[in-house]
Parts: sequence; structure tokens; C-alpha cells
Amino acid sequence: MTAATARAFPNIALVKYWGKRDEELILPVAGSLSLTLDILPTTTTVSLAPEAEADRFELNGREATGESLRRVAAFLDLVRSLAGSQTPAFVRSRNEAPTGAGLASSASGFAALATAAAAAYGLDLDARGLSRLARRGSGSASRSIVPGVAVWHAGDGDETSFAEAVAAPEMHMVIVTVDAGEKPVSSRVAMRRTALTSPFAEAWPRTTEESLAEMISACEAGDFTRIGRITETHALRMHALIQSADPPIRYLTPRSVAVFDAVAELRERGVEAYATADAGPNVVVLVQSADAEAVAARMEEFGRVQIAKPGPGVELLEGDASPE
Ligand code: DP6
Repeated sequence: MTAATARAFPNIALVKYWGKRDEELILPVAGSLSLTLDILPTTTTVSLAPEAEADRFELNGREATGESLRRVAAFLDLVRSLAGSQTPAFVRSRNEAPTGAGLASSASGFAALATAAAAAYGLDLDARGLSRLARRGSGSASRSIVPGVAVWHAGDGDETSFAEAVAAPEMHMVIVTVDAGEKPVSSRVAMRRTALTSPFAEAWPRTTEESLAEMISACEAGDFTRIGRITETHALRMHALIQSADPPIRYLTPRSVAVFDAVAELRERGVEAYATADAGPNVVVLVQSADAEAVAARMEEFGRVQIAKPGPGVELLEGDASPE
């Protein structure tokens, strides 16, 4: 095959990944757990281009340059080294989420790129192999290979650090986009700064592994209340950690905090809703399906609102489907 197209969906972590113990292999300091969504996918076509002099990357119809091209080309170098190839490629990607706004665009992006590139260069990888490969592009992408709830194991090394599915009760997410702009500090840079400068960084890996173990048992028990409580606590712990870096980084804006407050008020009125946020100002509210519409209506004053259900894992699309 000389061209392949794959589609992957973003995921939102309920137990967050924040920090690497190996930056080259992207091995995390602790495991994490997420829900893959059924909206805002990235669709990517990788076409081998033997005549070309270098890789090209087009995102949403625009030729990419600079850091985003460099990251895609470095990832293709890894795929080529595994496939024993030196052929450049043309990568065309369509991303339905706002890129770089903390809505997991690198997760869906690298999951789709890993899967399309593996197929185009003839690598025969199972789901675990694809998850390990996607991890090398962006840590959270390892989880977007998997449908529904996924745990990404910290592992002992490259071979054992991959994501796999976990049984969990039915859950929906209400995505509240309070600001679709690009975030001021990328998660990659912020993770490094946190590890180097926060006095609290030392406590993070152990306490995250504890939250993860509790979360997996809550998922297996189908206990939505426990899942929700751990989700909100762990998200706020991550933001507290990030804010404690020097110089500090603050992703949550007054509007994000207002959403957390509105979610707490809903709980006081007996609605089971729990908030989380990644490295950006947007907030995601975890709910049970019966409450999704009412919670979404309550959130409308804060920004654009979308309801997501658990989504599929990465898929190779048949034929020469193009992301147009
Ligand atoms: C806050 O996976 O984007 O969304 O591995 O450096 O590419 P890199 O980082 P990335 O970080 C995601 C951080 C997070 C939490 C999470 O998704 O678990």
C-alpha cells in the first residue's frame, strides 16, 4: 500500500497524564485513564511520495511549516526506521477540534497519523503496537487507539507502556468550549517546567497511581459517583501542580472556574455532574446519559456546548478516502 487513511477521535483523561520519565520514548511518570469521544475526529491520509525531497504536511487545507511540520516529520522518521524505508510522505489531515486549544487535538492527530503511516509503510501492528507507536508522537495519543475507556499503563519500558480498554459504566461528556484560542504554553513545555521547578512534582507520580487504581476499581464496579469524584479531584490536583511551577502556568480562566462552580451547584441540587479540564481553559463535564441534555442546557451561558458519547477506537478507512 502506498497511501492509507485513518480516523481517530480525541480522548479526555479522567486520571491525567502529566510528566515524562523518558522524553525520547514518551514514557509517563504514572499511568492514566481516559474516555475516547465520538465527536471532533481527526482524519489523516499518508501517501508515500518517492519523488519528493522531503515530507509535507497539510492541516485543514493549509500547508504546515515550523514546529508542527517538524513533529510530523520526526514521527515519520520513526515509522521509516521501523519499516526500513527512506521514502518521504505527504500527510493530509483534517481536524474537527480547534488545534492547540486543550481539546486533545494531538491525541486524535497522532493516533490517526500512527495508524495511517503504519499502513502506508507496511508495518503490521496490532492495537497494542499501534498504541505504543502513537505514544511516541504524543503520550495521550496512545489512548485514542482504544474505544471507550482506556488505561495507559506507565509500564516498565517501551514494550509495556500502551493503552488498553477497561470495562466502565455508561458515561457522557458535555464539552464546554469557553475559549477556542491557542493555549499560551504547550502541554509538552509545561510538563517539563512543572517537573523541573514545582516542589510538589515529587508527590504527583505516587498519588496519580493511587488515583488510577481507585479509578479502575470504580470503573469495574460501575460506580459513577466514585468515578466522578476521582475525576474532578485529580483534574484540580493537576492544575494545582501546574500552577506551582516557576514561572507559574495557569490554564484555567475565570470563566473555566465559573463552570466548575456551576457543576458544584448542580451537584448540590442532586444532579450528578463532575468537571475536568486539560491543559487549556475549556471544561468537560462528566455525566450519565439521562442528565446530558439538562447539564448541557445549564452550561450554554459559558460558551459553545457539545455532548459526546463514548467513541470508537482508531479506524483505517477503506479505499482512497480523502480527508476533504
Ligand atoms: C493535560 O499527550 O499532549 O491533556 O506527550 O508531550 O505530546 P505530549 O503531551 P500530551 O499531554 C496531554 C496532557 C493532558 C492530560 C491527559 O490527556 O492525560
